[in-house]
Amino acid sequence: MRGPRVATAAAAGVALGLAAHWLRKAAVQGPSLLAGRWDSVLAAEHAAALRVFDRIERTGQDDVLRRKTLLAMLKHAISKHAFQEENVVYAMMRDHDLTAAADHLNHDHGYVKQYFFDLGEMPADSPEWLPKVKAFRAMIEEHMREEEDTLFPQLRGALSDAQNRHVTAAMHREGLKLA
Ligand SMILES: [Fe+2]
Ligand SMILES: [Fe+2]
Repeated sequence: MRGPRVATAAAAGVALGLAAHWLRKAAVQGPSLLAGRWDSVLAAEHAAALRVFDRIERTGQDDVLRRKTLLAMLKHAISKHAFQEENVVYAMMRDHDLTAAADHLNHDHGYVKQYFFDLGEMPADSPEWLPKVKAFRAMIEEHMREEEDTLFPQLRGALSDAQNRHVTAAMHREGLKLA
């Protein structure tokens, strides 16, 4: 009798684990799911990332744990965001005669990863840490402005309503993979 009971408990454990896994993903992707069309979703994620930058910039030089925690949060949010853009939005841009723009944005994403790497390598209480964060923010804010003010409206305008809805759905599917 022990075997089936252990197996049932294990199955229940797996089911609970899976439920927790999907609940966590839903909690991470949830605010984005509510933001509407793909370009509004990405703009809302930009704003959320800038709020994390604000919190990082308010830390003191000795708040090492807080700095590392906030940087890890920012890295997770931006990695998910970039995965959505690269796997769906930039690909769609290339399919609609915006190849040079998509390649330029993708190039910027490489330097976003570079900033995360360099900040991770640097001691978080180094006097150079916060200036590096500020340079990172300046770079990423310019990237966000280009996306929101120029390039995403160009793509949105090149697509039909049905295509825009398709991009929104495809982007959420990608986002849930990393949420
Ligand atoms: Fe981007
Ligand atoms: Fe973006």
